[in-house]
Amino acid sequence: MTSDHTTDLRSDSLEARARRHLWLHFTRMSSYQGNDVPVIVRGSGQYVYDTRGKRYLDGLSGLFVSQIGHGRTEVAEAGARQAAELAYFPLWSYAHPRAIELAERLAALAPGDLNRVFFTTSGSEAVESAWKMAKQYFKTIGEPGRFKVLSREIAYHGTSLGALAITGLPPLKTPFEPLPAGGVRVPNTNFYRAPGFVADDATAFGRWAADEIERAILREGPDSVAAVYLEPVQNSGGCFPPPPGYFPRVREICDRYGVLLVSDEVICAFGRLGYYFGSERYGYQPDVITFAKGITSGYAPLGGMMVSDRLMEPFSDGPATFLHGVTFAGHPVSAAVALANLDVFEKEDLLGNVRANEDAFRATLAKLTDLPIVGDVRGDGYFYGIEMVKEKTTRETFTAEESERLLRGFLSHALYDAGLICRADDRGDPVIQLAPPLTCTQEHFDEMEQILRSVLTEAWKLI
Ligand SMILES: Cc1ncc(COP(=O)(O)O)c(C=O)c1O
Repeated sequence: MTSDHTTDLRSDSLEARARRHLWLHFTRMSSYQGNDVPVIVRGSGQYVYDTRGKRYLDGLSGLFVSQIGHGRTEVAEAGARQAAELAYFPLWSYAHPRAIELAERLAALAPGDLNRVFFTTSGSEAVESAWKMAKQYFKTIGEPGRFKVLSREIAYHGTSLGALAITGLPPLKTPFEPLPAGGVRVPNTNFYRAPGFVADDATAFGRWAADEIERAILREGPDSVAAVYLEPVQNSGGCFPPPPGYFPRVREICDRYGVLLVSDEVICAFGRLGYYFGSERYGYQPDVITFAKGITSGYAPLGGMMVSDRLMEPFSDGPATFLHGVTFAGHPVSAAVALANLDVFEKEDLLGNVRANEDAFRATLAKLTDLPIVGDVRGDGYFYGIEMVKEKTTRETFTAEESERLLRGFLSHALYDAGLICRADDRGDPVIQLAPPLTCTQEHFDEMEQILRSVLTEAWKLI
């Protein structure tokens, strides 16, 4: 263990108090018995700082959240002003100005006729709300048998029990089974690991992966399938962009069988891919978009779903009430913060910054492919995954034990100690994920590349 992770002996230190009382998410708490919990105390621009004043490049935007970067007082002040004016009022039967303004603004930005916004506080709630809406919609229009949801292998769609049933990661699910019925898996678009018969042809691979959705619908019975959930770029597994033709084909299949296409853009919206919505980038029209994270750049929590006019019809024109809601959804402070966040996007042309610099980001990360451990660098916009392999030519991956040693035993700590916040993940094959603030430029790309180069070089020696 390096000196940065030695135990802080002062029992009143933040690190010690965290160890005693805080339960970290998705964290093996026993690993902090002899080590400090990393405590981040402030942020400024693309960087965050720990209790000792050490600086880290935030290569993951916290958790795919901090699009505009840290320490933006104009956004913080918009939240404070709103709290003074109207701190809270529910969206249950009432509206408030910021929720109205934000819904209107999102409707103007979203593709096609996604004109209706149902707010939540998180991405999991957004995903689960869309499933509940789809189920009630179909019951209301006289297709009560439609309840199943298709989603892709290894895809993460959240942790509440409904969202977890849609998530495609078995190890995250088994402790909580039985889950709500209806989750069905289809292949993802990991071209690096494509089946042999389409391994050399991205278009054929895309066609095959989309057609697997049709096969699953037919296998399950078209009258039982409500929706397909897809991220524009699948995060979990290490950034799988859609192969050419994939989404148009999926759209065709959904239309053929009357299945809703839910674009889960909890990560991919709000500039991550250089557009307000990832579906815009790849030119497809969803029936529902789920969002969270970047809509506020983390200055307050907010999520939601955007729904097409067609899906809204039974709820706006008939007696049906969507029997769903949460107390803090569309919180006035969060809505005010989201509006101020979108003002920053416009004022600083953050989408333009991502589009202008994404090739340079890709090229800088691609330099790492000269390392023996780097098998694949993939992604779009400001969203990349670097897959690590044991043997490059055969693409052989690590055993579970090697991966444990590599990721939890070395990389996670080493990257943090070297001053880079990113994610070393083995929910699929081992990858490092990067999703920096949209304000980043070449100097930040270079810093990421240099830190990764030195840490991955060390990691290779341990294998
Ligand atoms: C695609 C996707 N959907 C849903 C979620 C769940 O969002 P939350 O953690 O806000 O509940 C996430 C979280 O990372 C996500 O990446």
